[in-house]
Amino acid sequence: MGIIGGGNLGSALAEGFLKSGVLRAEEIFVSDPEEEKLRKLARLSLQVTTDNRRLVEECDVVFIAVKPDRVESVLREVEDLSAGKLFVSVAAGVSTKFIEARTRARVIRAMPNICGSVLKMASAFSPGSRATKEDEEIVTRLLGSLGTTARVEERLMSAVTGISGSGPAFFFYLIKAVQEAGMELGLSREVAFKLAAQTARGAGEMALTSEEQIDELIRRVCTPRGTTIEGMKVLEERKVADAIREAIKAAARRAEELSR
Ligand SMILES: NC(=O)c1ccc[n+]([C@@H]2O[C@H](COP(=O)([O-])OP(=O)(O)OC[C@H]3O[C@@H](n4cnc5c(N)ncnc54)[C@H](OP(=O)(O)O)[C@@H]3O)[C@@H](O)[C@H]2O)c1
Repeated sequence: MGIIGGGNLGSALAEGFLKSGVLRAEEIFVSDPEEEKLRKLARLSLQVTTDNRRLVEECDVVFIAVKPDRVESVLREVEDLSAGKLFVSVAAGVSTKFIEARTRARVIRAMPNICGSVLKMASAFSPGSRATKEDEEIVTRLLGSLGTTARVEERLMSAVTGISGSGPAFFFYLIKAVQEAGMELGLSREVAFKLAAQTARGAGEMALTSEEQIDELIRRVCTPRGTTIEGMKVLEERKVADAIREAIKAAARRAEELSR
């Protein structure tokens, strides 16, 4: 399995695959022009190279994790080696059609997020016209090992980008706001942060595993005349849910613009 581009996402994928145990270090090959980035990855016993062609020659499955504007030049470089390969592109806004038109590879487009490094990634993927059921199974197994993954229609990739691609930043922002409120109420920075982040983790974990609907979970914390309900009133008055919906839609709109 190869990864072209050992930057933020490429190295998070490599580290996640290794951590999850889905691949052994010697099964992961990463290419990047920067020797320094490669040295860091080589310390994890991964195979590394500055030569994208060598990587494609040696790998059956190749993740493309370079910035969207670099995808075309990478494809040009390896086009003649692409027949019989599965290319998994994580480049925002780059369609499977674009890659299929420039290579002979089978193509799957995926939208991961940075939480793969802690094996809590939320990702989705769309198969291109040449991808097989087996290719989908490979991608489901690889991305699934980093957290959760779902197959979606390609026209919905911008929505996925808004929710889970950009999403970690929105949740970090909420954690920061909760921490700041804690500090304003007199808690130390460290304690306020721990309480905020662990509460977010616990709420996410419960939402994913509980049999109760999200509204029931909210009701369970909001006892009548209790404390939580006072906070919920402020969230409703300030229309925080509307603001969050708008934020996600703005990110999705931008993803749509970039994909034109
Ligand atoms: N970061 C995220 O949270 C996230 C989430 C979802 C999807 N993505 C997608 O993932 C892709 C990578 O994003 P990123 O944040 O990881 O960017 P990044 O940190 O800039 O990583 C891209 C890496 O590719 C290298 N590179 C550039 N040209 C190359 C070439 N011709 N061959 C091989 N490697 C090359 C870059 O090296 P130089 O720095 O030397 O140019 C850099 O190390 C993007 O397409 C983005 O849309 C990112």
